Amino acid sequence: MKSMLMAAAAAAVLVAAGPSAAQTAKPTAAEAKAFVENAEAQIEKANAFAARAAWVRANFITEDTQWLEAKASAEQNELATRFAMEAARFDGVPVDAVTARKLKLLKLYLVSPAPNRPGAAEELANLLTKLDSTYSTGKFEFKGKQITLNDAEDVLRSSRDPAELKAVWEGWRTVSPQMRADYATFAGLSNEGAKSLGFKDTGALWRSNYDMDPDAFAAETDRLWKQVEPFYRNLHCYVRARLNDQYGDAVQPRTGPIRADLLGNMWAQQWGNIYDIVQPKGVTSSYDLNKLLVEKGYDPVKMVKTGENFYSSLGFAPLPETFWNRSLITRPRDREVVCHASAWNLDDKDDIRIKMCTKVNAEDFSTVHHELGHNYYQRAYKDQPVLFRNGANDGFHEAIGDFAALSASTPTYLNQIGLLEKVPGADEDIPFLLKMALDKIAFLPFGLLVDRWRWQVFSGETTPEEYNADWWKLRLQYQGLMPPAQRPADAFDPGAKYHVPGNTPYTRYFLAHIYQFQFHRAACQQAGWKGPLHRCSVYGQKEMGERFNRMMELGQSQPWPQTLKVFTGETRTDASAVADYFKPLNTWLVQQNKGENCGW
Ligand code: ASP
Ligand code: SER
Ligand code: ZN
Repeated sequence: MKSMLMAAAAAAVLVAAGPSAAQTAKPTAAEAKAFVENAEAQIEKANAFAARAAWVRANFITEDTQWLEAKASAEQNELATRFAMEAARFDGVPVDAVTARKLKLLKLYLVSPAPNRPGAAEELANLLTKLDSTYSTGKFEFKGKQITLNDAEDVLRSSRDPAELKAVWEGWRTVSPQMRADYATFAGLSNEGAKSLGFKDTGALWRSNYDMDPDAFAAETDRLWKQVEPFYRNLHCYVRARLNDQYGDAVQPRTGPIRADLLGNMWAQQWGNIYDIVQPKGVTSSYDLNKLLVEKGYDPVKMVKTGENFYSSLGFAPLPETFWNRSLITRPRDREVVCHASAWNLDDKDDIRIKMCTKVNAEDFSTVHHELGHNYYQRAYKDQPVLFRNGANDGFHEAIGDFAALSASTPTYLNQIGLLEKVPGADEDIPFLLKMALDKIAFLPFGLLVDRWRWQVFSGETTPEEYNADWWKLRLQYQGLMPPAQRPADAFDPGAKYHVPGNTPYTRYFLAHIYQFQFHRAACQQAGWKGPLHRCSVYGQKEMGERFNRMMELGQSQPWPQTLKVFTGETRTDASAVADYFKPLNTWLVQQNKGENCGW
């Protein structure tokens, strides 16, 4: 993710006066322009304050930093919500195109606008700070010791003992039941705020940020899911059979849903960690990035430097000295922090940083590129006006770094930077593609369902009593998963996924998993690549990098289809790039699945 401050950020004194005679007369275009420019200046000031409060709390979670963050966030929310409401005054006023877009973006600025009544912004901000802190400091007992989410993820990544996996999977989910009531209160407040800005509910507000009608956007995500669903089902079928081979019928039956704790990841959102279990028979992969990184003596800082080097090869300027002095790159041993990886820009100029509890493994190698992508994007659009300093849409923001990681994952690149001695031949294409699909294709239904659940919560279709049952309905429907055992009555499993207590919309990741392949396909074309897409690395392609940067510099200044066109020539989100990339694997999976009873 990128930082929450764009969403939740800070304080300033309102310059705008209360309702006056001037406001009852029809305002002019010049007034609209002046209003927007003033709003931008104040929001910028408020962000500068809120961002630092948020950074300090995320790097040192205490009662006091929570208090400070919540105060700053409440003030910023109040300010931005008030501007968003005032923006409605200019509805129907014939303004210039830039001002019109800014007025629109002002209403979409906050992830959860606060209700316009005394105390409501404070209550909302307190709940969010508390939810995020509860998640981030969560611990539970395992083998007689209190363990963190990081420790639990290590077990899920590497243990092949189903009893142990189940214990850790269930253990982490003892952290979230205490969030349920707060989440319900938060959802009510956020909805009230969204309604005051003219949206049906918070879900509709989130769906309105894609330069199209919110219902059309929901339909668009359905269309995209339909494009990739058959491929996911093939992967599910193949992986389930291999898990059945490994664990037997008593643990993982050969038909029906997959047990969610067996897939190597706490949320079963990326399955790359169980490659050893599902690897094709007869064709071994000649390298394992996890091992290479350790063997070559990588440490967390070297991982980040390696990520920086990739972007430098595309022509991006090096990271500033302050990045290295101010980022948090490993988990500190003596204080509580938010370990979920994020990227920040504290001054909306050059003060870019990441914050992650980096481990030396393949997953974090990719996450480093992901987070840096946010930072380079933030720096690229820093000269845009405040309201345009954002991704073309939030899916773009999540896709930049993943796009880089696609090239940085290729054996050719790993060889170029000295991690891998020998580039494997075409016989290793299937093992490679399978590894990538375990992360990228397995992710798609998860990327979709987190917000399907929240959309239902915000619309009232899912009540607090139904929170957990409806979560599992979606987990079954989209991912074909089941819990290792019946869930306790008080379970609140959505709360065990960072972005729910963190209040970060999630559909962006679903979109990013499509955009990154569109970017990759276009970039490889521009680089003159003629081979299969999955073998293409754009490392060192400065001309292509320059064109990519031209897209990034635009920020959110125009509707995203136009921005997509600048780099790819395309104007639609299109999963055909995913199909192109994985084509040989899908064919292979269909063959492997012969005789299996696929589906669930
Ligand atoms: N950037 C990732 C995400 O957006 C962070 C991670 O998964 O570690 O949440
Ligand atoms: N980084 C996002 C997450 O943690 C998507 O992969 O869920
Ligand atoms: Zn991200």
